Amino acid sequence: MEEFLRALPKSELHVHIEGTLEPELAFSLAEKHGIRLPYADVNALRAAYDFSDLQSFLDIYYAGAGVLRDAADFHALTRAYMERAHADGIVHTEIFFDPQTHTARGVPLASVLEGIGDALREARAQNGTTHRLILCFLRHLSAEDAMHTLDEALQLKAGIAGVGLDSSELGHPPSKFATVFERARAQGLLAVAHAGEEGPPGYVSETLDLLRVRRIDHGVRSEEDPALMERLVRERIPLTVCPLSNVRLQIFSDMGQHNLKRLLERGVCVTVNSDDPAYFGGYLLDNFRAVTDALQLSRAQVVTLARNSIEASFLDDPSKHRWLQQIDALAARPPA
Ligand code: HPA
Ligand code: ZN
Repeated sequence: MEEFLRALPKSELHVHIEGTLEPELAFSLAEKHGIRLPYADVNALRAAYDFSDLQSFLDIYYAGAGVLRDAADFHALTRAYMERAHADGIVHTEIFFDPQTHTARGVPLASVLEGIGDALREARAQNGTTHRLILCFLRHLSAEDAMHTLDEALQLKAGIAGVGLDSSELGHPPSKFATVFERARAQGLLAVAHAGEEGPPGYVSETLDLLRVRRIDHGVRSEEDPALMERLVRERIPLTVCPLSNVRLQIFSDMGQHNLKRLLERGVCVTVNSDDPAYFGGYLLDNFRAVTDALQLSRAQVVTLARNSIEASFLDDPSKHRWLQQIDALAARPPA
């Protein structure tokens, strides 16, 4: 199964580039910029990755991002992720970034975009990995701040494909960002949003109705609402599920309790993703391995997950068709 998982062409649709910051790179960037991290070494930092909920993770994640200061830092960060992605058999990736985390510290949006963009283009030239970039608004900040960030990105012609919504979900309903998303969509941007991770299924419905998103990020709590589940299946709305993240943030007590297999068997278009791999104990292949083992997924179910990742992506139809054919050809070969 291991080699089959790796060989399957896959796309990753839910990964925060700031969440790929490994402790080793954090320490080397801290040294470069003369920043003192409040941890003795890499091991002490890793040991602090013991989370009780989403907020306990976000506090460490935003503090970690403080070492990212110039375009070269964002370039190094993105290069490292793209190398891991290629090694895991990822052929296409849709990357989130959180501009407000950086602009609030005085890092220009143009530097963030330059570093990430250069690394993405290099990976495409070297390995053929394609990408889309998705600008996420931080939902704990105001809608005005989000609108300002959107305007700045539009002015810079930032090369972004879409907008997303992340950070603390509870207490920050999607309705807060309806106007911002309307403007983004009017400018031709695609929309996705985190919903139903810690928040109730009502936030997922509201996200679909008010933000008109093409996918829901996480969405695992949708299972609590039968009418919503029917809607997700009927309208074929993808969920970008992040198994290791969900267990580390205690959405599920252990991987055996995760609802990914049930969602799949109910006919929801679920995909597997790594979210913040440096913080949650693994990249895409680690996530595939973890669910396959804990939930005893069949080969056919793994193939469906790979197919869903292509179908739910923002690739054009001919590219999707090409990758789906490659997946089907691989699946048709007898197991080694
Ligand atoms: N949820 C909300 N905000 C985030 C996440 C997440 O899983 N990862 C990074 N920011
Ligand atoms: Zn996320």
